[in-house]
Amino acid sequence: MIETLAPEAILAQLAAMADKDTDWRGGRVFSLVYKAGPEHRAHEELVAKAHALYASTNLLNPMAFPSLRRMEREIVAIAAGLMNGPPSVVGTVTSGGTESILCAVAAYRDRARRERPWIRWPELVVPSTIHPAFDKAAHYFGVRLRKVPVGADLRADAHAMAKAIGWQTIGVVASAPQYPHGVVDPIAAIAAAAQRAGVPMHVDACVGGFVLPWLEKLGRPVPRWDFRVPGVTSISADLHKYAYAGKGASVLLWRDVKHMAHQIFVATDFPGGIYASPTLLGTRPGGPVAAAWAALHALGDEGYLGLARAAVDAADRLRAGIAGIDGLELVGQGDATIVAYGAAGAKARWFGWFGTEGLDLFAVADRMEARGWTVDRQHRPASIHLTVTANHVGVVDDYVRDLRAAVEEVRGNPRLAKSGTAPMYGMAAKMPVRGLVARNVRKLIADMYKAAP
Ligand SMILES: Cc1ncc(COP(=O)(O)O)c(C=O)c1O
Repeated sequence: MIETLAPEAILAQLAAMADKDTDWRGGRVFSLVYKAGPEHRAHEELVAKAHALYASTNLLNPMAFPSLRRMEREIVAIAAGLMNGPPSVVGTVTSGGTESILCAVAAYRDRARRERPWIRWPELVVPSTIHPAFDKAAHYFGVRLRKVPVGADLRADAHAMAKAIGWQTIGVVASAPQYPHGVVDPIAAIAAAAQRAGVPMHVDACVGGFVLPWLEKLGRPVPRWDFRVPGVTSISADLHKYAYAGKGASVLLWRDVKHMAHQIFVATDFPGGIYASPTLLGTRPGGPVAAAWAALHALGDEGYLGLARAAVDAADRLRAGIAGIDGLELVGQGDATIVAYGAAGAKARWFGWFGTEGLDLFAVADRMEARGWTVDRQHRPASIHLTVTANHVGVVDDYVRDLRAAVEEVRGNPRLAKSGTAPMYGMAAKMPVRGLVARNVRKLIADMYKAAP
């Protein structure tokens, strides 16, 4: 039975339900939400209005919605320009980074099937820091990931990746930047190796696509990663991250339509007619497309430059504050706006070098959560991750102050490492049988869905 509610009651309940959600507007969460900053409330409202205007529309049939087709074309053109693409660049708007990546992997596989049908086990050569969306794509589409360990600087090892390319390789992937530590992989060297081997290369710029171009304009040292690099075939870049669009928007760009053609799925026997679809979704919600188009034009060059400056300044201040806390160290140089840190010696221990057992970082994470921060814990090496946006400018000092206090608390009370979630995270990170970890996590999530509200 579905209870009927009055519109006011519905809105009141929706507002009340958000009560226990993380304080994303206040900047106490990193990476799940990309927000332009408290002074951009009008931006958030505009994006929501644009979304609402097109909430019921469907890009599945662009002939029925030329408005959406036009917006998609214009979004792709803006992204291609930012990423220094030649005029031949084409692409689609998708629902997010994962969909862009799924579409890219499916297209790489299908291209190999057509052009190199002798391949039995299609393989993608990727660095070990590649986003799990690639594991998901590989799992769904019957592709193997050949994961190549990264170097001591946490960047992809171009030489090792070149050596890993074999006769079953259908493509090579690297990130700009990778998520865990925010470093940009050596795209130029990897793309050169891919070109020599005659295989296409995808750059995962889901995080960096809409911030690295501005950082470069600001004069920051950004390694080349975009279509200026010969051999880069496709790029994924998320609008719902640093383009400050509404959730549910990313782009997948191809150097030319010849490559993109493999992304298009066609079913010809459906009694309902010929069915063609370029992306993973069937119905393609128009709301996020309109919201992304609105966000791009509301901020424009000037707006994005200012937001990139604010985000990177906040990231630099966080790095300086964290580096000044005894017992912690930064993990990865962080080419952009991602900050990662661990207990001093964590990286050395991870690489098997000499490193003393330091502070329990997961206990520090618990103490930060007790202070109202949403914390992203990482392993390999054990670290805490912060994706910094313009919305964090105002919380940097609070964060560093709370972190210093959390570290002192853990140092003063070693038993904290044995309480809270710290032992669980510590054990899960170290457990050698990864299948067991996967089984336990799968059960945990299934139980969450099983439980009555
Ligand atoms: C580098 C990278 N690639 C892909 C993704 C997946 O994006 P989404 O969560 O939008 O599917 C992310 C998400 O954080 C990411 O950081």
